[in-house]
Amino acid sequence: MNNECSCNRRTAVATLAGTGIALLGGVGAFAQGDAKSTRPQPGDVLVHADGPNASKPIAAADLKPGSPQVLAWAMDPSSKTVRDGSKLNQVLVIAVDPSKMSDATKANAAGSVVAYSAVCTHVGCLVEGFEKNVDRLLCPCHQSEYDPADSAKVTNGPAPTRLAALALKAGDGGTLVVAATFKGHVGIGPTS
Ligand code: FES
Repeated sequence: MNNECSCNRRTAVATLAGTGIALLGGVGAFAQGDAKSTRPQPGDVLVHADGPNASKPIAAADLKPGSPQVLAWAMDPSSKTVRDGSKLNQVLVIAVDPSKMSDATKANAAGSVVAYSAVCTHVGCLVEGFEKNVDRLLCPCHQSEYDPADSAKVTNGPAPTRLAALALKAGDGGTLVVAATFKGHVGIGPTS
């Protein structure tokens, strides 16, 4: 009887312990999911969002003025968590001739490279087109254009406001590191 009770108690303890581990695992998974949805944070490293180099750090030296933007995510360098859990975290990086940058743009740049939210402020398409003849970021959905040399202000189309800026600094080995959280509105709107 005692053995049975003891056994049951151990089983219960083991079960509770297992439940606790499972719960802790759940909390860990939640924390991971939460970290993935958190907006880019200071100290994060920008990594390629897609292609053969997906999740690998973007090399600033590979970006040249006059070339299209590269889509990116921010990655926590400690946990290697890529913050791809929210579309609102999608970032674009592009090189701009520093002599053509506005002062505000220059303040957010790492050398010739600037970063912005990649979510169009019209109805939320990805700003993944590029008008090479005028060096403008182009949203393919309704042809809004943004000037990457002037804090991504709208130069054409229905977008109601500029893209949020993500200040950068140079990181180790020529990587791009987030210097501050987004400045400005991320996502659709505002409409007034
Ligand atoms: S969603 Fe970008 S212009 Fe409409």
